[in-house]
Amino acid sequence: MQRNSTTEKARGPRGGAGPLEERVIISLNHVNLSYPDQVALKDITLKVANGEFLCLTGPSGAGKSSILRLISMDAFPTRGQVRVRGMLSSTMNRKRIALLRREIGFVFQDFRLLEDRSIYDNVAFAQLVIGVPGRQIAENVTRVLNQVGLWDKRHRYPRQISGGEQQRVAIARAMVNSPKILLADEPTGNLDPVTAQEIIDLLFKFNDAGTCVIFSTHDHAIVKTFGRRVVVLEGGAIVSDRTREDQVDRSARLEDRMYRAEPERGIHRTTEEFSHA
Ligand SMILES: Nc1ncnc2c1ncn2[C@@H]1O[C@H](COP(=O)(O)OP(=O)(O)O)[C@@H](O)[C@H]1O
Ligand SMILES: [Mg+2]
Repeated sequence: MQRNSTTEKARGPRGGAGPLEERVIISLNHVNLSYPDQVALKDITLKVANGEFLCLTGPSGAGKSSILRLISMDAFPTRGQVRVRGMLSSTMNRKRIALLRREIGFVFQDFRLLEDRSIYDNVAFAQLVIGVPGRQIAENVTRVLNQVGLWDKRHRYPRQISGGEQQRVAIARAMVNSPKILLADEPTGNLDPVTAQEIIDLLFKFNDAGTCVIFSTHDHAIVKTFGRRVVVLEGGAIVSDRTREDQVDRSARLEDRMYRAEPERGIHRTTEEFSHA
């Protein structure tokens, strides 16, 4: 009996709660955020599914950073509830916040690297602070620096690499603990358009590997070409939340990729190349 009902549930939607509901990793439920002299967010309701890639946009002061701070529980709602990976904003204490932060990588507009440490040590630092054993640190830092294409420059210091490269280091540092969620607050704000696109592409790569990515930008050029979900904020409220119609379902894409011999090259193949194959 028990086994039967579990199978039923796994097969698909019944009643209200469907598979999407079960995949929600972040939810903001009628959230307000007020500062003493300022209402930053008004009645925000937002659900983000596991593995989703979402762009938060809107003019300066619209509340983009505030939403990201609520998700990382750097800020707490003055009304409403934030839930991240099952943790409720109203029940958090220092210990639980520390646990939550291990599941979240954060990237900032101004990189925030440690100037007196090498690229390698900047990334390793994120592992040291959570007490990962030495050999495992070497393994993880090597992996992630290769993923962002900076293994060859690992001995350099932040001032010896470009802005785009510094942001790659920041992303490596955010990803080295294998977080489930990557939050990037205007990660392209200090970069030229070409480098900015490279950073977005790198975020896509981590999203392809299963990380839920939320980034903010006020740059229309990036939003225009972003083929995923875009949430638009204005004056602390959500004024639009749209997913591009050409978006392919994440789980379907991931499943598809599992059966490809060369997943990395496969992504970049055009329809034409496939028809010639
Ligand atoms: N620490 C703070 N104290 C007071 N007001 C703040 C603080 N942080 C942000 N705000 C205000 O909240 C609003 C939203 O800010 P923010 O989330 O930083 O917007 P965005 O990231 O879209 O530029 C703005 O009006 C801003 O001035
Ligand atoms: Mg901001």
